[in-house]
Amino acid sequence: MDDIQILIVDYGSQYTLVIGRTLRELGARSIILPPNKVDKWLKDNIPRAVILSGSNWSVHNKGTPKIPKSLDITGKNKNNKYLILGICYGMQLLAHKLGGKVDRPLAHREYGPARVTLDTNHPLFKDIPKKIQVWASHGDTVIKLPKSFNSIAISGGIAAMSDKTNRVLGIQFHPEVVDTKKGKKILQNFLKLSNCKKDWNPKNLIHQIQKEVLDAVNKNMEKKNVILGVSGGVDSTTLAALLFPVLGKRLICVAIDTGGLRVNELEELKVNTKNAGIKNLVIIKAAPEFIKNISTTIDGEKKRAKFRIVYQKIFEKQITKYNAGFIAQGTLATDMIESGKTGESAMIKTHHNVGLDWKVDDLHPFKNLFKYEVRELARALKLPSSVYERNPFPGPGLFLRIVGAPVSKENIELAREADKTVVDILKKHNVGKDISQLIVAILGIKSVGVKGDERVYGHSIAVRAVQTVDFMTTKGYYFPQAVVYEIISALTKHKDIVRVFFDMTPKPPATTEFE
Ligand code: XMP
Repeated sequence: MDDIQILIVDYGSQYTLVIGRTLRELGARSIILPPNKVDKWLKDNIPRAVILSGSNWSVHNKGTPKIPKSLDITGKNKNNKYLILGICYGMQLLAHKLGGKVDRPLAHREYGPARVTLDTNHPLFKDIPKKIQVWASHGDTVIKLPKSFNSIAISGGIAAMSDKTNRVLGIQFHPEVVDTKKGKKILQNFLKLSNCKKDWNPKNLIHQIQKEVLDAVNKNMEKKNVILGVSGGVDSTTLAALLFPVLGKRLICVAIDTGGLRVNELEELKVNTKNAGIKNLVIIKAAPEFIKNISTTIDGEKKRAKFRIVYQKIFEKQITKYNAGFIAQGTLATDMIESGKTGESAMIKTHHNVGLDWKVDDLHPFKNLFKYEVRELARALKLPSSVYERNPFPGPGLFLRIVGAPVSKENIELAREADKTVVDILKKHNVGKDISQLIVAILGIKSVGVKGDERVYGHSIAVRAVQTVDFMTTKGYYFPQAVVYEIISALTKHKDIVRVFFDMTPKPPATTEFE
């Protein structure tokens, strides 16, 4: 159970993340899942509200994403506690599936601002003016409602619908977009109708986690020390800052220099942990051990498996050394879900710190949280922006950024240098603020280039940036053209780099990292 009241089914709209953010602003947590993950999630979780997002698909297209099988969209099964709200494509999908009709009449197409007249007697539009300006973007539209549905808003055509029980609802425009006046109020009304409670309050959550960890630790009368793995990233630094006030000297923060860190990473880690109030930081230098083991394979999963073994061995040593009874890590819900540790979710990739069998109790206090929520905790803890705005970087680091090529010292150095080159360009153009994560990877295909009139048989570099709220789904970021030119020019100055590829593939079907 994730204890999440709202499920957002992501049909690929560029605004899906905005729905999640708006709900959080309203005090409610949500999970965003692609349609093919919903059935598994619903086996273990009972939401109060389900939102079907927009999409650039038409319900009439072949291969169009469907409504998950286990989702009851009839509203008739009272055992299902949730209400459903379809937004744009989500509404069309509901209407189409329930026997209504969706078509593309020229007169009803709306792109951008539109005026709607609302049925303000309906609870979805309670306390909202009758006529409002909204933002819409659709070619298809519902031209005939399913049986037992009413139109509750009109623009060029049907702009919103509701079944008689008010349990299945649809809105053709986008309430999550700021250009829809009172859009947030509409979503707030939907949360109220669904009986969703406010469950997102960073300060309460901090106290709750501190108490849970303290209770667990106090049960062990002999070994009360806790080893905490820190990487300098948002999750582990925030966890350290959150636990230090309650554990004090009993919290020993351990960072590993794996040899797969980016330029300046270790220095930043020291500064970030210091800013988080951590006094007892232990740094273990273990690059040769990691590289020796990981360089024996180029397979992504095998690299992860080898990384885990060395990682665990190092921590076990520290557990013994400090007579600790616990190991704590900043593992997130996403890590748990994708490494197959929740419900029946498929294993996408083995995370370096999930599912390890420790000789002491392991604590994952953030296991139900998403990255954006941890950032909020960091803000509430008054950590500097260098912590809460920090882009994530995977534990196995640059080892995952050498794809289909050996993890040699030379390749690690090249990946590190290429990363730094791109990071600097993004900083210069102030692009970093628009993206959630940057991935610069060496691709294991050499190809022919020409430099200074000479043939070069050199490396290809892939540059990928993504935008996301929770890393369950990501959107590929399209760099401005000037930035693309500069990245290509700067990277190919390196004697061994002849080609640069940009990867904007969303997740799904891709993942954020290449491996
Ligand atoms: P994917 O590639 O699964 O990545 O879409 C989602 C987020 O998780 C990060 N990631 C990891 N972080 N250990 C980590 O600490 C790992 O083994 C790991 N694998 C992926 C990835 O960088 C992205 O932020």
